[in-house]
Amino acid sequence: MVFQTHIKLTAQIESLKNKNLKIGFVPTMGALHAGHISLMQEAMKSNDILVVSIFVNPTQFDNASDLSKYPRTLKNDTNLIYNHFGESNVLIYTPNVEDIYGDRAVAKSYQYDGLELVMEGANRPGHFDGVGTILEFLFQKVQPDYAYFGEKDFQQLQIVKKLVEKLHLPVKIIGCPIKREAHGLAMSSRNERLSPQAREEAVFIIQSLEKAKAYFKNHSINDTVAMVQKLYAKNKNLELEYFTIASEETLIPVKRKYNKHTYRAFIVAHLEGVRLIDNMRLS
Ligand code: PAJ
Repeated sequence: MVFQTHIKLTAQIESLKNKNLKIGFVPTMGALHAGHISLMQEAMKSNDILVVSIFVNPTQFDNASDLSKYPRTLKNDTNLIYNHFGESNVLIYTPNVEDIYGDRAVAKSYQYDGLELVMEGANRPGHFDGVGTILEFLFQKVQPDYAYFGEKDFQQLQIVKKLVEKLHLPVKIIGCPIKREAHGLAMSSRNERLSPQAREEAVFIIQSLEKAKAYFKNHSINDTVAMVQKLYAKNKNLELEYFTIASEETLIPVKRKYNKHTYRAFIVAHLEGVRLIDNMRLS
């Protein structure tokens, strides 16, 4: 069933919880693709009910044009969900801005022990306040047992775990692997804005991550970062916003290897005015 208001959604969820049914939740901004579907498949494996929210959250956009250009394909999205999972155990929540924010769409402010100060937090001011605001609201209304997030947005995944810990919310956060196109481009709703030629060119991103991973085995963090920066300096189409190597736990960019850390490379590059994000575990 599709719900447009949180009042109706919560009423339905209360009655399901009274029957002791387990709720798995996948929050999205729509323009759904196989990456989103893989999260829903995980949710379906371990829960009785799948709840999907589809809402382009204005408070997490730091750029008005990115918000207005964000693809909105609601009818296709609901069909895609029903085609995969049927209708009987699936609740879809498609609110408008007023249902979430009333007449003033503003974000609350959150501290995530420093996880918000680097990478996406540093480059997109207010982004993780917007993400925290919408997710706190959704977790309260949906009351999920489990909620599923992609490693595609690895920093977001770590921040959501911190949010839940700090607010003592009774939901378990599950991270899911990055789903990629056959040639390696990480699936993203924003890919729809790329020309077919640019989609081919974007393979450079995964190739650069793979090169970084191989290089990192025998080189320092600084040398690996420099090597990747050189690759992008030679590429005329892709513009590198950042390439960072950080410990998975703290996300703080590091300069020297310490054996006890697991490292991950994080990248943002621009192509045809589209901001593409990806990451890969290095060790
Ligand atoms: P959105 O970009 O729609 O992504 C919804 C979820 O799908 C996120 O957890 C994201 O990491 C995951 N996802 C996207 N592409 C993926 C891929 N290729 N492989 C695996 N998972 C992928 O992230 C958001 O929306 C919003 O910030 C949201 C959490 C809904 C809050 O507004």
